[in-house]
Formats: sequence, structure tokens, C-alpha cells
Amino acid sequence: MTAIPQERRVVTAIPGPKSVELQARRLASVAAGVGSTLPVFTARAGGGIIEDVDGNRLIDFGSGIAVTTVGASAEAVVRRASAQLADFTHTCFMVTPYEGYVEVCEQLAELTPGDHAKKSALFNSGAEAVENAVKIARAYTKRTAVVVFDHGYHGRTNLTMALTAKNMPYKQGFGPFAPEVYRVPVAYGYRWPTGAENAGAEASAQAIDQITKQIGADNVAAIIIEPVLGEGGFIEPAKGFLPAIAQFAKDNGIVFVADEIQSGFCRTGQWFACEDEGIVPDLITTAKGIAGGLPLSAVTGRAEIMDAAHAGGLGGTYGGNPVACAGALGAIETMRELDLNGKAKRIEEVMKGRLAEMQAKLPNGDVIGDIRGRGAMIAIELVKSGTKDPNPEAAAQLAKACHAEGVLVLTCGTYGNVLRFLPPLVIGEDLLNEGLDVIEQAFAQI
Ligand SMILES: Cc1ncc(COP(=O)(O)O)c(C=O)c1O
Repeated sequence: MTAIPQERRVVTAIPGPKSVELQARRLASVAAGVGSTLPVFTARAGGGIIEDVDGNRLIDFGSGIAVTTVGASAEAVVRRASAQLADFTHTCFMVTPYEGYVEVCEQLAELTPGDHAKKSALFNSGAEAVENAVKIARAYTKRTAVVVFDHGYHGRTNLTMALTAKNMPYKQGFGPFAPEVYRVPVAYGYRWPTGAENAGAEASAQAIDQITKQIGADNVAAIIIEPVLGEGGFIEPAKGFLPAIAQFAKDNGIVFVADEIQSGFCRTGQWFACEDEGIVPDLITTAKGIAGGLPLSAVTGRAEIMDAAHAGGLGGTYGGNPVACAGALGAIETMRELDLNGKAKRIEEVMKGRLAEMQAKLPNGDVIGDIRGRGAMIAIELVKSGTKDPNPEAAAQLAKACHAEGVLVLTCGTYGNVLRFLPPLVIGEDLLNEGLDVIEQAFAQI
């Protein structure tokens, strides 16, 4: 599958001298607003390993933020994208079309939930897909309001900043934001005041009440939700919440949009996370895992809704680039052939088992307030000992300790106190366990 040895190897300080030199050049030439979790410069990557310019090999528990589900150099992605590069790089689908785009849309129709007639439109980034889902929903419903949720994340463009909940770092100083966006509660079980068991029913009732009383259901074009909230802290809305909201949307002619940009394409052990509670969204946005690391995104949904936008109203110069489409077909082929949904479920079993052991046996294990997520989208929420007070310092210290030992982990969460694990689904089980060993040792250090 990949030539890179699947072994952790730390041969210098992390970052090493070559990375430090590159970082100095980067600081002089790259805008400060573009940050990096770990300023270690990549030489190559594949399977569960990122090899840096100093020869260190890091275990990858980030997948470039849930992108390289099939690995960063998957054989089928490389083969198909290389062949496409040699044939042609671009014509613009809006000028002269090509088969790869159509084939990706056919695959999306097959893989997304529901057996109704479906169509898709392709774009470059996740934010662009979400923006276009809003355009399509507004064109279809002839309404303007858009409902989103506490802790939601949908991107960094102007409209998606408005849709995103967290101010710092995504919105601070970048307003004014797009109008007609309304935020309502989500069923965050761990932090729901009356307990997780009540969160689904109470949060959905509150959200529906707010929509009805504060916006008016017949003004709402779209309700947009991540079936597992990603940047907000890998929050799985408590059982019953998503079906209640989806039903409310259906009853009121509102387009229900599942943003599966982070949770989709096998990440949670299903093609799409909304399948878990049998939800069939009207529209679904995808990106990240779809194309094995090449920039591609999509809006897929009911044909009659997708066709509501007039010809020329959707698109963009690069949307559905042929090389990215070839990459997507290679990624989907890999997901099917290697049964990556099954792999994700196994990763969940191993990770949750080991994390629960750490919580039970480590002297400071009670800083792990919650272990949650599905498939290879697993997180721990860190709190101050004996409380539920967020502990972002522990998250930062743990991440730093893991990085120093050659394990790349990411943080997230509204309170910055969540350590999230998003390994490539092709990671070997030995490497997965070794990464968890390092996390366990990191707990001993804090
Ligand atoms: C759920 C969700 N929606 C939208 C986006 C934005 O995607 P992109 O960064 O490709 O614009 C992200 C990115 O993290 C995401 O997780």
C-alpha cells in the first residue's frame, strides 16, 4: 500500500533542526493568521505515519483533520489521480464537462442515505459546499432564515463564519457576518443541566420552541447540523435529538441539511453518521475524506431540491476538478475494498477500551470527564479533577507531550478542552496501540 515503514521513530527533538529552519522561512513569508498545530514539516506520509524532513516518523492521529481516511498516499488515489493528471488537469466542468465528475455524483447518489432520486454539485472546500447548500435551500423554499446549533462549525467564509458558533479563533474581528442566521441549543449530553438521559428530548423541544417563537417555522429555508459535531468537541447529539429535529423540518417544509464534512465517508463506521439513527437528510454536504486528500466537496440531495437553482447559479472555475474527482473515485474504491467501515468500528473498540482503562487506572484519570465519539472519530473531554470544569491546560499539555514522543494528536471543543483522535482508517492495530501507549504515558507526565 505504501513504501513508508509503519513505525514510529523519533531521531531528533520535535520539531527537528530542518523543521526549525523551514519554520523560520515560513514565519517570514506566510501570513500569521494561518496557524499549524505542530510546526513539523512533512516529507512524505502514508498509512498511519507522517515522516518529517528530519527523518522522524510520527503516528498520525489527525489525518490532516479527518481527510486522509484512506491514508495520505493510497494506491488507488495515486494511480487514478496520476493517470488523470497525464490526460488533462482542467477544462472547467462549466465549459466542457468530463466523465469523472458525473461518476462522483453517481457514487454520491448511491452511497448517501435514502433511495429517492438524488443529484449532486461539486465544489472545492467544505465551506463552499455548505454555502451552496444554503443557496439551494433558499432557491427551493423561497425563504431566507437558516438555523444552526450551539457548538456547530461550518467553515471560515463569511456565511459559514456566521453559521459557526465559536468566536475565537474563527470569527474574532472578521464581522459583520451574514444575516438571517439563527442559533439554537443542541443536545450536548455530558453538559446538559438535567443529565444526558434528558438531553435529547429537552434540547429538541427548546430548539423547536425557539425556531417557532423567534423565527417562525415558515421563514426557515434550512436547518443545518453536523450529525457528530466536530470542531465543537466531537459531540454526539443525545439519542432522539436528530430524529426530532429532522421530523420538525419535514413537517414544516424546511430543508434538513446534514453537514457530514468531518463525519462522513466511513469516519464513524458508516458511510455517513446520520445513518446511526436512520436519518435521511434532504441535503448532505461532504468534503474532507471524500477524495483522499485532494480538494473536493459536494452537496448531494433530493433531485427536486437540487434542481431548484437556475442554470449558472451554482459552480465555480475549479469545482469538481478532474484530478480531485479521480482521487475521489480512488478513495471510494479503497473504502469499499478494504471495508473501512469495519475498520473504523474496530478502531472505536480498541480506542474506547484503552481510554476507559486509562480513566479507571491512572491516578489522574478523573481528568477524563467523558470518552465519546464513534468509529475513528473519538475524543476525550478533559476537566478539572472532581468537577466538570473545562481543563484546556490539560488538553494542551497532553497534546504537547504526545507530539514530543512522535504522536500527532489534535485538540478541539468550544472550551478547548477536548483531545480528539482521527487516525487514518488504514492504520495498523500495532501502531494504533503504540499511539495509545504514548497517550497513557503523557497522562503520567501531567
Ligand atoms: C463539519 C464541517 N463543516 C465544514 C467545514 C469546513 O470545511 P473546509 O475547511 O474544507 O472549508 C469543516 C472543516 O473542519 C467541518 O468540520
